[in-house]
Amino acid sequence: MTGRTADGSAGDADYAAIGGGYSAYRQPEPRIAALVEQALDGARTVVNVGAGAGSYESSAFEVTPVEPSASMRAQRPAHLPPAVDGVAERLPFPDDSFDAAMTTFSIHQWSDTAAGLHEMRRVSRGPVVVLTCDPDLVRDFWLYAYAPLVLDTEARRYPAVAAVTEALGGHADVTAVPIPADCADGFNEAYYARPEMLLDPAARRACSAWSFVDPETAGRYTEHLRRDLADGTWDARHGALRDQPFLRGSLVLVRAV
Ligand SMILES: C[S@@+](CC[C@H](N)C(=O)[O-])C[C@H]1O[C@@H](n2cnc3c(N)ncnc32)[C@H](O)[C@@H]1O
Repeated sequence: MTGRTADGSAGDADYAAIGGGYSAYRQPEPRIAALVEQALDGARTVVNVGAGAGSYESSAFEVTPVEPSASMRAQRPAHLPPAVDGVAERLPFPDDSFDAAMTTFSIHQWSDTAAGLHEMRRVSRGPVVVLTCDPDLVRDFWLYAYAPLVLDTEARRYPAVAAVTEALGGHADVTAVPIPADCADGFNEAYYARPEMLLDPAARRACSAWSFVDPETAGRYTEHLRRDLADGTWDARHGALRDQPFLRGSLVLVRAV
Protein backbone atom coordinates (compact mmCIF):
# COMPACT_ATOMS: atom_id res chain seq x y z
CA MET A 1 0.00 0.00 0.00
CA THR A 2 1.62 3.26 -1.02
CA GLY A 3 -1.03 5.93 -0.40
CA ARG A 4 -3.78 5.98 2.20
CA THR A 5 -7.02 4.00 1.94
CA ALA A 6 -10.52 5.40 2.50
CA ASP A 7 -10.07 4.45 6.17
CA GLY A 8 -6.82 6.40 6.22
CA SER A 9 -4.67 3.28 6.69
CA ALA A 10 -1.18 4.36 5.70
CA GLY A 11 0.83 1.20 6.14
CA ASP A 12 0.91 -2.06 4.21
CA ALA A 13 -2.19 -3.43 5.95
CA ASP A 14 -5.75 -2.14 5.51
CA TYR A 15 -7.23 -1.72 8.99
CA ALA A 16 -10.71 -1.02 7.58
CA ALA A 17 -10.67 -4.69 6.52
CA ILE A 18 -8.79 -6.30 9.41
CA GLY A 19 -8.89 -3.77 12.25
CA GLY A 20 -12.50 -4.21 13.40
CA GLY A 21 -11.83 -6.82 16.08
CA TYR A 22 -8.29 -5.70 16.81
CA SER A 23 -8.73 -4.54 20.37
CA ALA A 24 -10.65 -7.68 21.40
CA TYR A 25 -7.50 -9.74 20.73
CA ARG A 26 -4.73 -7.16 21.09
CA GLN A 27 -4.95 -5.91 24.66
CA PRO A 28 -1.80 -4.40 26.12
CA GLU A 29 0.18 -7.01 28.03
CA PRO A 30 0.98 -5.51 31.47
CA ARG A 31 4.45 -7.09 31.74
CA ILE A 32 5.43 -5.69 28.35
CA ALA A 33 3.77 -2.35 29.21
CA ALA A 34 5.95 -2.13 32.32
CA LEU A 35 9.09 -2.47 30.19
CA VAL A 36 7.89 0.24 27.78
CA GLU A 37 7.03 2.54 30.69
CA GLN A 38 10.42 1.92 32.28
CA ALA A 39 12.15 2.80 28.99
CA LEU A 40 10.25 6.12 28.95
CA ASP A 41 11.00 6.83 32.60
CA GLY A 42 11.62 10.50 33.34
CA ALA A 43 9.44 11.78 30.49
CA ARG A 44 6.30 13.83 31.05
CA THR A 45 5.16 14.28 27.44
CA VAL A 46 5.29 11.34 25.02
CA VAL A 47 4.23 11.03 21.38
CA ASN A 48 2.94 7.55 20.46
CA VAL A 49 3.27 6.92 16.73
CA GLY A 50 1.02 4.33 15.07
CA ALA A 51 -0.89 4.41 18.34
CA GLY A 52 -3.81 2.26 17.20
CA ALA A 53 -6.33 1.66 19.94
CA GLY A 54 -3.91 2.91 22.60
CA SER A 55 -2.13 -0.22 23.81
CA TYR A 56 0.97 0.60 25.86
CA GLU A 57 0.01 4.24 26.47
CA SER A 58 0.69 4.73 30.16
CA SER A 59 -1.32 7.12 32.30
CA ALA A 60 2.03 8.04 33.90
CA PHE A 61 2.67 10.28 30.86
CA GLU A 62 0.88 12.99 28.95
CA VAL A 63 0.53 11.08 25.66
CA THR A 64 -0.13 12.52 22.20
CA PRO A 65 -1.18 9.60 20.00
CA VAL A 66 -0.78 9.68 16.21
CA GLU A 67 -2.77 7.16 14.15
CA PRO A 68 -3.69 7.23 10.45
CA SER A 69 -6.49 4.61 10.41
CA ALA A 70 -10.00 5.84 11.28
CA SER A 71 -11.00 2.29 12.21
CA MET A 72 -8.19 2.12 14.75
CA ARG A 73 -8.81 5.63 16.09
CA ALA A 74 -12.46 4.65 16.64
CA GLN A 75 -11.39 1.74 18.90
CA ARG A 76 -9.60 3.97 21.36
CA PRO A 77 -11.24 3.72 24.78
CA ALA A 78 -12.85 6.87 26.17
CA HIS A 79 -10.29 7.28 28.97
CA LEU A 80 -7.46 7.75 26.44
CA PRO A 81 -6.84 10.95 24.48
CA PRO A 82 -8.15 10.98 20.90
CA ALA A 83 -5.47 10.33 18.30
CA VAL A 84 -4.17 12.90 15.85
CA ASP A 85 -4.67 11.74 12.24
CA GLY A 86 -1.15 11.56 10.87
CA VAL A 87 1.66 9.35 9.62
CA ALA A 88 5.07 8.60 11.05
CA GLU A 89 6.82 9.78 7.91
CA ARG A 90 5.48 13.33 8.39
CA LEU A 91 4.75 14.05 12.02
CA PRO A 92 2.76 17.26 12.40
CA PHE A 93 4.87 18.69 15.24
CA PRO A 94 7.81 21.08 15.50
CA ASP A 95 11.29 19.82 16.42
CA ASP A 96 11.81 18.76 20.06
CA SER A 97 8.09 18.89 20.91
CA PHE A 98 8.08 15.95 23.34
CA ASP A 99 10.19 14.54 26.15
CA ALA A 100 10.11 11.13 24.48
CA ALA A 101 8.65 9.20 21.53
CA MET A 102 7.32 5.65 21.43
CA THR A 103 5.94 3.23 18.87
CA THR A 104 4.74 -0.33 19.42
CA PHE A 105 4.10 -3.03 16.80
CA SER A 106 3.94 -0.43 14.05
CA ILE A 107 7.23 0.32 12.24
CA HIS A 108 7.00 -2.79 10.04
CA GLN A 109 3.92 -1.30 8.41
CA TRP A 110 5.33 2.10 7.50
CA SER A 111 5.99 2.89 3.85
CA ASP A 112 9.33 4.49 4.78
CA THR A 113 10.64 3.21 8.11
CA ALA A 114 13.81 5.32 8.14
CA ALA A 115 11.83 8.50 7.43
CA GLY A 116 9.39 7.69 10.25
CA LEU A 117 12.20 6.98 12.70
CA HIS A 118 13.98 10.21 11.71
CA GLU A 119 10.72 12.02 12.40
CA MET A 120 10.45 10.43 15.85
CA ARG A 121 14.04 11.46 16.57
CA ARG A 122 13.26 15.00 15.36
CA VAL A 123 10.22 15.57 17.58
CA SER A 124 11.69 13.95 20.72
CA ARG A 125 14.09 15.75 23.03
CA GLY A 126 14.79 12.50 24.85
CA PRO A 127 14.56 8.76 24.21
CA VAL A 128 12.89 7.09 21.24
CA VAL A 129 11.43 3.75 22.26
CA VAL A 130 10.49 1.12 19.67
CA LEU A 131 8.79 -2.19 20.43
CA THR A 132 9.22 -4.42 17.40
CA CYS A 133 10.37 -7.84 16.22
CA ASP A 134 13.81 -8.94 15.09
CA PRO A 135 13.30 -10.34 11.57
CA ASP A 136 16.28 -12.68 12.01
CA LEU A 137 14.41 -14.51 14.81
CA VAL A 138 10.87 -14.57 13.41
CA ARG A 139 11.23 -17.94 11.63
CA ASP A 140 12.53 -19.67 14.78
CA PHE A 141 8.94 -19.94 16.07
CA TRP A 142 7.21 -23.35 15.74
CA LEU A 143 4.46 -21.70 13.63
CA TYR A 144 6.94 -21.58 10.74
CA ALA A 145 6.40 -25.31 10.15
CA TYR A 146 2.67 -24.65 9.70
CA ALA A 147 2.39 -21.15 8.20
CA PRO A 148 5.69 -20.44 6.41
CA LEU A 149 4.36 -17.66 4.19
CA VAL A 150 2.90 -15.83 7.19
CA LEU A 151 6.25 -15.75 8.98
CA ASP A 152 8.15 -15.10 5.74
CA THR A 153 5.89 -12.06 5.38
CA GLU A 154 6.66 -10.96 8.93
CA ALA A 155 10.40 -11.47 8.46
CA ARG A 156 10.27 -9.42 5.24
CA ARG A 157 8.24 -6.60 6.80
CA TYR A 158 10.22 -6.05 9.99
CA PRO A 159 13.24 -3.85 9.43
CA ALA A 160 16.59 -5.22 10.63
CA VAL A 161 17.30 -4.11 14.19
CA ALA A 162 20.60 -2.60 13.01
CA ALA A 163 18.68 -0.47 10.48
CA VAL A 164 16.39 0.77 13.26
CA THR A 165 19.23 1.75 15.56
CA GLU A 166 21.11 3.36 12.68
CA ALA A 167 18.08 5.42 11.62
CA LEU A 168 17.75 6.62 15.21
CA GLY A 169 21.42 7.68 15.31
CA GLY A 170 23.20 7.98 18.63
CA HIS A 171 23.35 5.20 21.12
CA ALA A 172 20.68 2.49 21.31
CA ASP A 173 20.06 -0.34 23.75
CA VAL A 174 18.29 -3.39 22.35
CA THR A 175 16.71 -5.78 24.85
CA ALA A 176 14.88 -9.05 24.27
CA VAL A 177 11.33 -8.86 25.64
CA PRO A 178 10.13 -12.09 27.29
CA ILE A 179 6.64 -13.10 26.13
CA PRO A 180 4.45 -14.54 28.90
CA ALA A 181 2.47 -17.73 28.26
CA ASP A 182 -0.82 -15.95 28.96
CA CYS A 183 0.17 -12.81 27.02
CA ALA A 184 -2.86 -10.51 26.71
CA ASP A 185 -1.58 -9.07 23.43
CA GLY A 186 -2.38 -11.61 20.73
CA PHE A 187 0.47 -11.40 18.24
CA ASN A 188 1.50 -14.75 16.71
CA GLU A 189 4.24 -15.63 19.23
CA ALA A 190 1.91 -14.73 22.11
CA TYR A 191 0.18 -18.04 21.38
CA TYR A 192 3.36 -20.13 21.71
CA ALA A 193 1.81 -22.08 24.61
CA ARG A 194 -1.81 -21.85 23.40
CA PRO A 195 -1.66 -23.10 19.80
CA GLU A 196 -5.44 -23.61 19.66
CA MET A 197 -5.85 -19.82 19.63
CA LEU A 198 -4.41 -19.71 16.12
CA LEU A 199 -7.37 -21.79 14.91
CA ASP A 200 -9.58 -18.77 15.67
CA PRO A 201 -9.96 -16.68 12.48
CA ALA A 202 -10.52 -13.47 14.48
CA ALA A 203 -7.30 -14.02 16.44
CA ARG A 204 -5.43 -14.45 13.15
CA ARG A 205 -7.05 -11.34 11.69
CA ALA A 206 -5.61 -9.33 14.59
CA CYS A 207 -2.12 -10.31 13.35
CA SER A 208 -1.81 -8.40 10.09
CA ALA A 209 0.70 -10.80 8.47
CA TRP A 210 -2.15 -13.30 7.98
CA SER A 211 -3.92 -10.77 5.72
CA PHE A 212 -1.10 -11.16 3.17
CA VAL A 213 -1.85 -14.87 2.69
CA ASP A 214 -4.82 -15.91 0.53
CA PRO A 215 -7.70 -17.58 2.38
CA GLU A 216 -7.12 -20.97 0.73
CA THR A 217 -3.49 -21.05 1.87
CA ALA A 218 -4.42 -19.86 5.35
CA GLY A 219 -7.08 -22.61 5.41
CA ARG A 220 -4.45 -25.25 4.55
CA TYR A 221 -2.12 -23.93 7.25
CA THR A 222 -4.73 -23.98 9.97
CA GLU A 223 -6.04 -27.39 8.89
CA HIS A 224 -2.50 -28.78 9.30
CA LEU A 225 -2.30 -27.28 12.79
CA ARG A 226 -5.77 -28.56 13.67
CA ARG A 227 -4.79 -32.08 12.59
CA ASP A 228 -1.53 -32.05 14.54
CA LEU A 229 -3.32 -30.80 17.65
CA ALA A 230 -6.05 -33.42 17.32
CA ASP A 231 -3.69 -36.40 16.90
CA GLY A 232 -1.11 -35.27 19.46
CA THR A 233 1.66 -34.48 16.97
CA TRP A 234 1.95 -30.85 18.08
CA ASP A 235 2.12 -31.82 21.75
CA ALA A 236 4.70 -34.53 21.08
CA ARG A 237 6.95 -31.90 19.47
CA HIS A 238 6.18 -28.74 21.41
CA GLY A 239 3.98 -29.74 24.37
CA ALA A 240 6.63 -28.66 26.91
CA LEU A 241 5.91 -25.07 25.84
CA ARG A 242 2.46 -25.31 27.45
CA ASP A 243 4.21 -25.18 30.85
CA GLN A 244 6.95 -22.74 29.93
CA PRO A 245 6.15 -19.40 31.61
CA PHE A 246 7.95 -17.17 29.09
CA LEU A 247 9.19 -17.39 25.53
CA ARG A 248 12.25 -15.57 24.36
CA GLY A 249 11.08 -15.00 20.82
CA SER A 250 11.63 -12.24 18.31
CA LEU A 251 10.18 -9.36 20.37
CA VAL A 252 12.70 -6.61 21.17
CA LEU A 253 12.66 -3.19 22.76
CA VAL A 254 14.93 -0.58 21.22
CA ARG A 255 15.71 2.52 23.28
CA ALA A 256 17.73 5.19 21.53
CA VAL A 257 18.94 8.29 23.31
C1 LIG B 1 -0.37 -3.60 14.75
S1 LIG B 1 -1.03 -1.99 14.97
C2 LIG B 1 -0.32 -1.50 16.53
C3 LIG B 1 -1.13 -0.48 17.24
C4 LIG B 1 -0.64 -0.16 18.66
N1 LIG B 1 0.58 0.60 18.63
C5 LIG B 1 -0.50 -1.40 19.48
O1 LIG B 1 0.60 -1.67 19.99
O2 LIG B 1 -1.49 -2.13 19.61
C6 LIG B 1 -0.09 -1.03 13.82
C7 LIG B 1 -0.57 0.40 13.71
O3 LIG B 1 0.34 1.16 12.92
C8 LIG B 1 -0.43 2.06 12.15
N2 LIG B 1 0.36 2.53 10.99
C9 LIG B 1 0.55 1.89 9.82
N3 LIG B 1 1.28 2.65 9.00
C10 LIG B 1 1.58 3.79 9.66
C11 LIG B 1 2.33 4.96 9.35
N4 LIG B 1 2.92 5.10 8.17
N5 LIG B 1 2.41 5.94 10.28
C12 LIG B 1 1.82 5.77 11.49
N6 LIG B 1 1.11 4.69 11.84
C13 LIG B 1 0.99 3.71 10.95
C14 LIG B 1 -1.65 1.24 11.74
O4 LIG B 1 -2.70 2.05 11.29
C15 LIG B 1 -1.93 0.51 13.04
O5 LIG B 1 -2.80 1.20 13.88
